[in-house]
Amino acid sequence: TWAPAIPPSDLEEFGVAAATVGGLKVALYAVDGEYYATADLCTHGAASLADGFLDGELIECPLHQGTFNVKTGAAVGAPCSVAVRTFPVKLEGGLLHVGLPGGA
Ligand code: FES
Repeated sequence: TWAPAIPPSDLEEFGVAAATVGGLKVALYAVDGEYYATADLCTHGAASLADGFLDGELIECPLHQGTFNVKTGAAVGAPCSVAVRTFPVKLEGGLLHVGLPGGA
């Protein structure tokens, strides 16, 4: 199921922004003209990745500066060691849509 999220212009300033889709909080990213989404909650603690710092394809968590690759969800910088969930993103009708599993 594709759920509408935010316009791509929301990503212009920081390259990352939060959205709630199907009751799920996600972080959306713009990297080199492509869009990506992960769960917003850091797998290391109670921090919002959308409040973090996007550097290329890496998002740095604002709490302990662990990093994830936003394309794969892989934890690439300590203290993060557990991958963050990723979701497909598509642009349709001027809005980014996030692909959610099942009938959400
Ligand atoms: Fe994200 Fe610790 S909560 S690195």
